[in-house]
Amino acid sequence: MQQTNTLRKNTVMKLFDEDRALDEFDQKMDLLNKETDINKQLQIFKEMQAIANNVSVLKGWPYNARVFWDKEAFFWKQRVEQRYREFILKEIITRINESAKRSILELGTGNTPYLKEAINLDISHDMLATIGVSERVEIAKIDNHDGYENNTIKRIQANVEHSLPIKDNCVDAIVAVFLCNYIERIDVMLAECMRVLKDEGKIVIVQSFAEVDNYHSLLEKHPAKELTLILRTILNELGFKTQIDVKDVDKKTIVFISATKS
Ligand SMILES: C[S@@+](CC[C@H](N)C(=O)[O-])C[C@H]1O[C@@H](n2cnc3c(N)ncnc32)[C@H](O)[C@@H]1O
Repeated sequence: MQQTNTLRKNTVMKLFDEDRALDEFDQKMDLLNKETDINKQLQIFKEMQAIANNVSVLKGWPYNARVFWDKEAFFWKQRVEQRYREFILKEIITRINESAKRSILELGTGNTPYLKEAINLDISHDMLATIGVSERVEIAKIDNHDGYENNTIKRIQANVEHSLPIKDNCVDAIVAVFLCNYIERIDVMLAECMRVLKDEGKIVIVQSFAEVDNYHSLLEKHPAKELTLILRTILNELGFKTQIDVKDVDKKTIVFISATKS
C-alpha cells in the first residue's frame, strides 16, 4: 500500500514537472520567434532541446515530424487568419470544381480542413484528433457542394513520404495546403498522388511565398522561393499537366499549383 502511494505520488510529481516544462517550452517558442540575433536564436533552440529531452511528449523534437506537429496542434488554428483561409478555399474550389464530386483527399490537413467532405490525412495524431466540424471553413457560403450535410469526419494518420494507405486510381482530387515546404521526399509524395488519382484527377498545391517564422523554419526542408520550381519539375517529370498561378491577397503572395493526371 505504502509502495503504491509513493509510486502514485511520484507519477503525479512527474506530470506536474512536465506541465511546467511544457509552459517554459511554449514561452521559449515565442522568444525564438521574436529574436532576430542568430546567436541568441541558437541559445534559445538549445534550451528548448534540453527541455524536450526531459518531457515524454517532446522526445525527438524538433526533427521527428510527428512529435513536432503533435506539439503544434494546440496552436495551429490561430496561425493562419480566417480571411486567408477563405481566399484559399475559393481558389481551391475553382480549380477542383469539375473533377471533384465525391472523393477528395486533403494531405497535411492539420486541424482546420478546407473541404468538408474530404478525407483528412496527416502525420499528426493530435492534429487529426482536434478537427472539429464547427471550426471548418463554411464551404456552403461559397458553393452548394455535395456532402455539405454530411458531418462525418474522415481521418487517416499517415506520412506522405511513404506509400499512402489508399488504393490505386480512386481519388478525384487532392489538395495540399502549406505542406510541401516541410516534405523532404516530395518526389515520393507526388508519385503516390499520381498512383491514387483517377485519370484526369487533379492535385492542387497551395504554398505561401512568405518565409515561415523561426520556430517552423526548424523543420522546413525547402524555402518558399525554390519550392515552386521543385514542384513544377517533379510534376512535369511524372507526366502531370501543370498550371501555376500566383495571387496576391492583402500583403501575402500565395502560389497555386494545379496539376492534372493525363
Ligand atoms: C503548416 S501545417 C498546414 C496545415 C493545413 N494544411 C492548413 O493549411 O492549415 C502542415 C501540416 O502538415 C502535416 N505534415 C507534416 N509533415 C507531414 C508528413 N510527412 N505526412 C503527413 N502530414 C504531414 C503536419 O502535421 C501539419 O498538420
